[in-house]
Amino acid sequence: MKPFAWMVAGLAAKSLAFKAELVAQLKDIQDLAPRAEEAIDIAGWRDLGCWTDDANNLTLGDLTAGGYVVQRGAFVQFYDNSPTPNSPDVCQTYCQNNGYSYAGVEYGFNCLCSSRAPDQLRSGATGCSSPCPSPNNNQLCGGANRIQIFTNDKPYPYSQPKTSGLQTNWSYQGCYTTSGSGRVLVADSSNLQTSGNGATQCIDYCSGKGYSFAGTGNGYECWCDNSIQNGNTLDATPNQCVQPCAQNTGEGCGSPQRQAVYARQTKRYCGGG
Ligand SMILES: *[C@@H]1O[C@H](CO)[C@@H](O)[C@H](O)[C@H]1NC(C)=O
Ligand SMILES: *[C@@H]1O[C@H](CO)[C@@H](O)[C@H](O)[C@H]1NC(C)=O
Repeated sequence: MKPFAWMVAGLAAKSLAFKAELVAQLKDIQDLAPRAEEAIDIAGWRDLGCWTDDANNLTLGDLTAGGYVVQRGAFVQFYDNSPTPNSPDVCQTYCQNNGYSYAGVEYGFNCLCSSRAPDQLRSGATGCSSPCPSPNNNQLCGGANRIQIFTNDKPYPYSQPKTSGLQTNWSYQGCYTTSGSGRVLVADSSNLQTSGNGATQCIDYCSGKGYSFAGTGNGYECWCDNSIQNGNTLDATPNQCVQPCAQNTGEGCGSPQRQAVYARQTKRYCGGG
């Protein structure tokens, strides 16, 4: 199951008819959610107040973009009578256990997490007055299109592209975006998902085929070429090539519409040792 499609559908689903269906779908994720007795220390979360939200353009988490180009996000629902009914504490614990630095409660039972700060334009709202689900209904959990947001002030848990310990004469060139008319590197590609991907494997692959540029993308792709193609440029926004590599999640392998680009050094150094 693609993880994000149902989450967006779930957010739009306001009716009780959808609720039973979602509960079944969400059982897997709730099994992953921390139980109260496993709750880690959630001290240190700050309340950032009430913000507006939009199901088609979420304040926390960009789910429609696959969760990586703009930011990483997660959306879970904790109903009454579930093992962990929603509350600010439950949501903060869930988000923190999953590596996020922002948590938001909305519409009572919705909990959203993000790795990036929300847009300030949406802050300072009123209307975060929905009770959390029973038995936490003595607390407030946002409202309809209103999200109460908290942060633990932790750095983003992004996976960054590998920049050191690369093959001899290869170096990281930066995160290129498809701002031009097509892909960044196009001449050859190999989906290395099954054999593990990362800068090392992609450089080996491209180098072995005689190319001087190698780029990882979309978490599992490897592209080769001899120069940057289609007029593409470096992405000026930080943290855009941070989608974890498919089988090496500690390393970033680009993202959709982005390639983490490596090149073989061709400059000759004269007069040196
Ligand atoms: C999403 O909302 C932000 C403001 O928070 C706005 O700048 C952006 O243009 C919106 N994106 C879309 C696709 O509507
Ligand atoms: C690295 O580049 C230098 C200079 O072009 C070359 O002499 C050397 O063989 C290269 N090493 C490798 C492992 O490609």
